[in-house]
Amino acid sequence: MKNKVCLVTGANTGIGLATAKALGEKGARVIVSCRTEDKAEETFEAIRREFPHADLDYALADLSSQREIREMAARLREKYAKLDVLINNAGSWFSTFSRTEDGFERQWAINHLAPFLLTHCLLPLLTQSKDPRVITVSSDSHFHGKIHFDDVNLSQKYHGLRAYAQSKLANVLFTREFDRRKNLPTLSSYAVQPGLVKTDIGLKHTLGWHGFAWKIRRLGGKSPEKGAETSIYLASSAEVKGVSGAYWDNCRQKNPGKNAQSLQDASQLWELSQKMCGIGSYFNQ
Ligand SMILES: NC(=O)c1ccc[n+]([C@@H]2O[C@H](COP(=O)([O-])OP(=O)(O)OC[C@H]3O[C@@H](n4cnc5c(N)ncnc54)[C@H](OP(=O)(O)O)[C@@H]3O)[C@@H](O)[C@H]2O)c1
Repeated sequence: MKNKVCLVTGANTGIGLATAKALGEKGARVIVSCRTEDKAEETFEAIRREFPHADLDYALADLSSQREIREMAARLREKYAKLDVLINNAGSWFSTFSRTEDGFERQWAINHLAPFLLTHCLLPLLTQSKDPRVITVSSDSHFHGKIHFDDVNLSQKYHGLRAYAQSKLANVLFTREFDRRKNLPTLSSYAVQPGLVKTDIGLKHTLGWHGFAWKIRRLGGKSPEKGAETSIYLASSAEVKGVSGAYWDNCRQKNPGKNAQSLQDASQLWELSQKMCGIGSYFNQ
């Protein structure tokens, strides 16, 4: 990975931190994206404790804010000449309904719209790479998901699990539709299922009972290092160069759920997401 530039969102903890560490160990320049400078510094320390020579940079944004996503991407476009790997890893789980400053339900905004918009904003850098890869961390939760086109914010029928499953299904549909619409053959997209991983995702914005359920559930989970393996493989392996649009689990392609295979939903979601992000033409800026 020498001379490769990789950006990992949600890199300060959990699967993202394990991913950033591994890419640092492999010699890439790793840009860790997190919310605050303090978190970025802690991330640097955590990576350099194990890999003192890791080549690191950071980029700050609260990914629930489209303004902050656009500003972070603009700073990166000024600073870098190319981006080889974008790993849309950041994700969240909320027990209760709330809206972002842009008016969208939080899981929809952070888990789906943020990867959709950030990828768009970084296309000028990705297209300068010889082998650009966009990896989006989804989940097998998408098997239970449905895109509620009549109310994607779920304002009428919010449930944390329903919102999470919908957003993770959107990751798989995005990955596939990105591949269908892209205008550069070398540009590849991958959706990843990390498996059940022992992280704090289910403790941060959950009510008592949901947090307790996650504490029990994650006992059977794997380590963040194991959970990061497929993302690392897709970022670094020559075998998967150009193998675009698919869903990956345990470093292998696997069939996604039925609702992830609808070309019509993929297309409708794409149009809706463009509108929600104020994007005119996704691949032509
Ligand atoms: N853990 C599992 O079993 C599992 C299973 C399937 C899929 N996944 C997916 O794996 C990915 C990583 O999750 P994880 O388990 O590693 O969870 P985690 O430890 O909670 O890490 C999530 C990361 O996303 C960041 N993030 C959340 N909201 C953000 C926002 N508004 N702006 C910027 N960054 C934000 C978090 O930052 P803060 O530290 O600032 O909150 C953190 O760095 C997620 O996409 C998740 O859906 C996880």
